[in-house]
Amino acid sequence: MLSREETELLARVGPGTPMGQMMREYWIPALLSQELPHPDCDPVRVLLLGEKLIAFRDTAGRVGLIQNHCPHRGASLFYGRNEAGGLRCVYHGWKFDIHGRCLEMPNEPPESDFKHKLRARTYPCVERGGVVWTYMGTRATPPPLPNLAANQLPEPEIEVAAIQHECNWLQALEGDVDTSHASFLHFGSLKPEDTEPDTFLYWMIVHPAPRYAVVDTPYGVMYGAYRPATPGYLYWRIAQFLFPFYSQAPEGVLGQHAVTHALVPMDDHHTLRIMMHQKSHERLPIQGRTAKYPSGWGRQFVGGTGWTDRFKPVANAENDYQLDRKAQRRGDSYSGIAAIREQDNAVTESMGPIYDRSGEHLAVSDVAVIRMRRRLLQAVRAYAEKGVTPPGLDQPETYWVGSGGVVLPEEADWIAATEVLRQQVYTG
Ligand code: FES
Ligand SMILES: [Fe+2]
Repeated sequence: MLSREETELLARVGPGTPMGQMMREYWIPALLSQELPHPDCDPVRVLLLGEKLIAFRDTAGRVGLIQNHCPHRGASLFYGRNEAGGLRCVYHGWKFDIHGRCLEMPNEPPESDFKHKLRARTYPCVERGGVVWTYMGTRATPPPLPNLAANQLPEPEIEVAAIQHECNWLQALEGDVDTSHASFLHFGSLKPEDTEPDTFLYWMIVHPAPRYAVVDTPYGVMYGAYRPATPGYLYWRIAQFLFPFYSQAPEGVLGQHAVTHALVPMDDHHTLRIMMHQKSHERLPIQGRTAKYPSGWGRQFVGGTGWTDRFKPVANAENDYQLDRKAQRRGDSYSGIAAIREQDNAVTESMGPIYDRSGEHLAVSDVAVIRMRRRLLQAVRAYAEKGVTPPGLDQPETYWVGSGGVVLPEEADWIAATEVLRQQVYTG
């Protein structure tokens, strides 16, 4: 349970809020590279931590993230002409480069040097692994990017995608850290006979109430859910929370793949999930996926160029996520909602944009959520009150870590026994 004040402290990320300021100290995945497909392409409206920004790729292919309102008299630069090394406001023709420098002021006398005195607000951007990263923080020299394996794969292996959640970032992230829901929301219609015996999925279905272990790490929190496997062994699902908003789900096999999701706040009520996956990662027999396994991601989007249009699923709250009651009754699907991400959206969005946690009743299965909240609260208070550098910011190397399933002898120490596998992640 969180008090109303604690929820507010964690949830709000606009400029000047404690969590918003702390989050800005980290590099932030702002958009997918493919949203700006070529030099001088159409600009994109980017809502990021409550700030309205315009993303554009200039003639040289460099990405800029500039304030929405033109510094002259405030017209939106979204309508701008993206041409010859900058974004030109269509109101009076002032033109800005990716650093916010004013390159031209064609309606001013030629002798005027006003353009040199003016600077638009921009945030530095770098591209890596199909993601545009930006730094909105206070440091003159930003920290290094987090050393995430899923964001540093070779080109043929990169798979990036995104989906929007119409709720607060913490609520969406808590849905990831709450691994217990998978046996119900996502796999609840599977029966043991639908799966291969002695596989991850089989053990998950047969034992829906695992036990949990949680430990603090330099980058955040590591947690594991364990349940019986073959006699003398336990099936462990090991997952990660990494500051400030990353999750690594226990999907796949530990040490065999790279995956990271970023739950990036657009504003307090909208979140963009940026998914970084390793494309060729094999489905191994131990996972036990069957034909009845629910489909992965919803891939149909409403479209449009508005502030909250990016990656908004067609199956959304307005149509009850295309809930199929017949499929729910027949048991084809536990929820009656087709794709995993829309299933997640139905439950996390239906809590309301920012759920007041003072009314919840946390149980044993919520232990990782509790620990993550505690770490976030400690970090944001220490940052706001004493200026303490938040976790992981200056230890980007610790982000090289994996998640996934593993079978361990009953008596094994799960942390020591998985140390090598966790660091293995992707090796090419
Ligand atoms: S408002 Fe943009 S150039 Fe005048
Ligand atoms: Fe889920």
